[in-house]
Amino acid sequence: MPKHDLRRIGDLTLEDVRAVFDLAATLKAELKRRALRPLLAGRSVAMLFEKPSLRTRATFDLGAAQLGAHPISFTGAEVGLGRRESIPDVARNLERWVDLVVMRTFAQSNVDQLAAHCSKPVINALSDYEHPCQALADFFTLNEHFGSLDSLRVAYVGDGNNVTHSLLLLGALLGVEMRVATPDGYAPAAAVVEQARRTHPRGAAGVWTGHDPLECVRGCDAVYTDVWASMGQEHEAAERARAFAGYQVNSALLARAKPGAKVMHCLPAHRGEEISDDAMDSPHSIVFDQAENRLHVQKAVMAYLFERSR
Ligand code: CP
Ligand code: NVA
Repeated sequence: MPKHDLRRIGDLTLEDVRAVFDLAATLKAELKRRALRPLLAGRSVAMLFEKPSLRTRATFDLGAAQLGAHPISFTGAEVGLGRRESIPDVARNLERWVDLVVMRTFAQSNVDQLAAHCSKPVINALSDYEHPCQALADFFTLNEHFGSLDSLRVAYVGDGNNVTHSLLLLGALLGVEMRVATPDGYAPAAAVVEQARRTHPRGAAGVWTGHDPLECVRGCDAVYTDVWASMGQEHEAAERARAFAGYQVNSALLARAKPGAKVMHCLPAHRGEEISDDAMDSPHSIVFDQAENRLHVQKAVMAYLFERSR
């Protein structure tokens, strides 16, 4: 059977996403009762992180352990990916020892290359282009809060980055109306927007992009944002802070969305920049539910890909 990777949202069908959400809900309910399901008993998971992380590291590590697997982590500096050893050779080593590989890196092509040379499933734990595990946890969280994703309208205000790409692609697959407002020059990749429009059951009508945050959030059930300078772009922070003035998610912007619209952020947040304290700490903020659900959803992703690849 061919192995299944999660390099990008495009690796998933709607059926895959539904199966992952169902398993995540089961695993979450069981964990609340302190019941663990050893779906990866005796297995092992390698985690390669070339960038900092709190949530992703914690949740893959804990998640693997809760499934009965042994997690083993490496930083980029330790492995010297592409410098000390080529990515294909790293893959050829890891596949001899472990059952799944989780990778956080810069170029999406690094994930693709690792996956191409590894006989075990590879999971993208964030690249410069996509953050699929984040988007899965986010729509799982929305489904919990609204009871259904049908007829939801989600706004994203800020930088058209890796998180935006995965949200657009998964939102389109799930038939959620997606609306994205970015400053000029910071729009999501045109190829992603086109792919989302091709995927969405309502076509182009299901995916709006533009530059006006007020127009973007009108009638939206949730308003999402992320940092203005992603990891690796820190040197652009000052220039980006100027470009993104007016794109903060705060109570004034939220007042233009649906009453009680959920506030979302993948975290870490730069309070006072892309999100105000009052938005982040509002009773409608679900940012820590999103963070919690990374655990349950990634456990389901690991178990699902492992099972589908045997
Ligand atoms: N949201 C997210 O991926 O957080 P970390 O960078 O801390 O893993
Ligand atoms: N866009 C952010 C997401 C962090 C989880 C980054 O890439 O740094």
